[in-house]
Amino acid sequence: MERTTTQISQQEIDRQLAVCDQIAQLFQEEEKPLACVETYGCQQNEADSEQLRGYLARMGFGFTQDVEQARIIVINTCAIREHAEQKVLGNVGALVHVKRRHPGQLICLCGCMMQEQHVTEKIRQSFRHVDLVFGTHALWRFPEMVQSLLTQKGRIFQTPDEAGSIAEGIPVVRQDKVKAWVSIMYGCNNFCSYCIVPYTRGRERSRQPQEILDEIRSLVAEGYKDITLLGQNVNSYGKDLSEPMDFADLLAQANQIPGEFLIRFMTSHPKDATHKLFETMARCEKVAPSLHLPFQAGNDRILKVMNRRHTREQYLDKIRDLKSLIPHVTLTSDVIVGFPGETTEEFEDTLKVLEEVRYDALFTFIYSPRKGTPAAEMDDPMTREEKLVNFNRLVALQDQISEEKHAAYVGTTQRCLIDGCSDDPDYAFTARTPGNRLVRVKGQGDAVGQFRQVRITSANKWSLFGELV
Ligand code: 5AD
Ligand code: SF4
Repeated sequence: MERTTTQISQQEIDRQLAVCDQIAQLFQEEEKPLACVETYGCQQNEADSEQLRGYLARMGFGFTQDVEQARIIVINTCAIREHAEQKVLGNVGALVHVKRRHPGQLICLCGCMMQEQHVTEKIRQSFRHVDLVFGTHALWRFPEMVQSLLTQKGRIFQTPDEAGSIAEGIPVVRQDKVKAWVSIMYGCNNFCSYCIVPYTRGRERSRQPQEILDEIRSLVAEGYKDITLLGQNVNSYGKDLSEPMDFADLLAQANQIPGEFLIRFMTSHPKDATHKLFETMARCEKVAPSLHLPFQAGNDRILKVMNRRHTREQYLDKIRDLKSLIPHVTLTSDVIVGFPGETTEEFEDTLKVLEEVRYDALFTFIYSPRKGTPAAEMDDPMTREEKLVNFNRLVALQDQISEEKHAAYVGTTQRCLIDGCSDDPDYAFTARTPGNRLVRVKGQGDAVGQFRQVRITSANKWSLFGELV
C-alpha cells in the first residue's frame, strides 16, 4: 500500500490540546494523577516520549517512575532487535499483577513494535490488561485516544496502516536541561535488508526548515547548550520539501543562530554523506567535530546483500576526506556481526575497517532476524556460538582502540560542556568533549550547563577523567 505524508494541521493539534484540557477537568476533584512513561530504543523514541509527556502534562498529570503509583502507564517500544522486543513483552506481562492491585489503571503501548501486526495481534489475544495500542504514526492524536478510554468502555487498537505524518505544535516536556533532541525528519527510505525501521516508521518526510530553526532558537533561549538533530538518515533531509534543500544547508543555517551552543546530528548514511557536508562541518564552529557514520559490515559482498548501496572503499574514501578536513574529528559507527551467510573471513574485513578508521567508540550488534525483512528469509548457517566468538573479537579490538585513543587525551586541556552531576564523590560532574567523549570531572560549585576548560588527567576505555581548570 502506498503511504503518503499527511501534514497534521494546526487546528487538529489545537483540537487535541482542547481534549487535554477536558481530560484535566475530569481529574479536577482528585489528587494530582501521575503518569509513568517508559521508553525503549533510540533517541527518536526518547523524542517521541517527550511529546507524550507534553500532552500528559497538559492533561494535568505529574510524573513518576513507579508503576504502582501511576494512573496511566505508557510504554514506548522498540522493534530493532528481538532482545528489545522480548524485554518489552516481559515487562508488559508483569504489569498484569500491578493492574490487579490498581483496577483503574490505564496501560498504553506505542512505538515501533505497535506498527507490527503480529505483535498487536499477540497483545489483543494474550495481554488483555493492555487498554490502548497505537503506532508511531498516531502519536499526535494520543489525547483523543486517552479521552475515549476514560469516557467509554473497551480497549482501543489503532490500525497500523495509517499514513506517516508530520505534526507541529505538540507540547514537549524535556528530560534534560542542557541537552535537547530536535527531530528534523521522520522515516527511512533505505530498506537495508536486515532493518525493520522503514516498515515501522514509514517513508522519509522532512520538517520545514523554519520550524526546525525556530525550535533551535527557542531551545537556545531556554539555555540548552547541546542540540542534536535527529533523523534515521539526516543526509537525505529536505529532498521531499516543496522547495528542496539539503542537510548541509540546514546545518549552516542552524550555525548562524546566535548563542553559545553545540549542534550534533545523527544518523548519517554513508551513501548520502557528501563532501559538502564535511566542508560545512569544518567551517561551522557550532557544529561538533564528530560524526556517527554506520558502516555495518566491512565486506563488499555482505554490504551488497545488506542493500547498503556503498562499498568498503567508498566508505573509507569518505572517512579520509572528512579526516583531511577535520583532523581531530571523533568517529563512531554501528556494526552488525553475523548477518546471514557472513563467513568469518568476511567478518575479518569488518576488523580491517576498525583498524583503518580507528573509531572512538562503536555500537556493536549481533544480527537479529526481523519478521517481514528480506534478510529474515536468507540462509543463516553460522551458529550463535560462532557469531559470539566473532562478536567478542570485534569488541576486544574496539576496546583496545578506544583505550589508546582516550589515552592520547591525557595531559591535554579540552573545552567541555558540563552536562550533569554524578554520585561519585571524587568526580562530581559529567561532561562531554566537543567530540562527545564522556569526561568525569573533579570540581565543585555551579558548573552544570557551562562550557569549561577541563584538564584531562587519566582515561580508560570508556571515559576520560579530569579537573576544572
Ligand atoms: N539486527 C541487528 N542489528 C540491527 N540494527 C538494525 N537492524 C538490526 C538487526 N536486525 C542495528 C544497525 C543500525 C542500528 C541502529 O541497529 O547497526 O545502525
Ligand atoms: Fe534501518 Fe538502513 Fe534506514 Fe538505518 S538506513 S534506519 S539501518 S533501513
